Amino acid sequence: MRVAATVPARLRTATEDVTLTSGRTIKAGEHVAILTIPANTKEEDLFGAEPQIFNPHREVGKVAPWGLTFGSGSHTCPGRPLVTGGRSMRADTEIDGSLVTVARGLYRAGMELDPDSPPRLDPATHYNNYVSVPVRFSGAKAVATAARPASERQ
Ligand code: HEM
Repeated sequence: MRVAATVPARLRTATEDVTLTSGRTIKAGEHVAILTIPANTKEEDLFGAEPQIFNPHREVGKVAPWGLTFGSGSHTCPGRPLVTGGRSMRADTEIDGSLVTVARGLYRAGMELDPDSPPRLDPATHYNNYVSVPVRFSGAKAVATAARPASERQ
């Protein structure tokens, strides 16, 4: 998520003159943007060696391993715990969020892209959004086998 953030930039307009801790000044009415992927992938002291490379086993320091993917400050994404699990900003629990659990369930059920109907990108945006991503399920039997028999269910 850190190296392939779906939201490439967050934009803000200053409502008053402001001086950042770096000393940089922004005047009222000026627009600023944070470019998510560059901000997430440049700093080795934050994210470890080669921070632009996908490596789910990397050790991160005292930062959120997802970088700025969910934003920061008062408008930080409130859905983040649904995605990463836990309330901790560092995701140092073993629990995955609901969306990861749902995705794992879909893959267990054999979800795969439909080879007869490839995904179609949305031509109305430069984001990597899709108008359709047809999938099919090939492993329903394996899931039924893994499920507890009806006699054991409450
Ligand atoms: C991979 C999944 C997600 C990503 C990468 C993501 C990312 C973001 C980002 C970057 C922002 C803007 C933060 C800002 O402007 O400072 C945001 C805002 C928001 N997100 Fe998410 N989000 C995700 C999932 C979710 C989910 C699952 C929910 C709800 C169930 C959710 C609800 C919201 C809401 C309501 C806001 C607006 C917050 C505000 O403006 O105060 N998001 N999200």
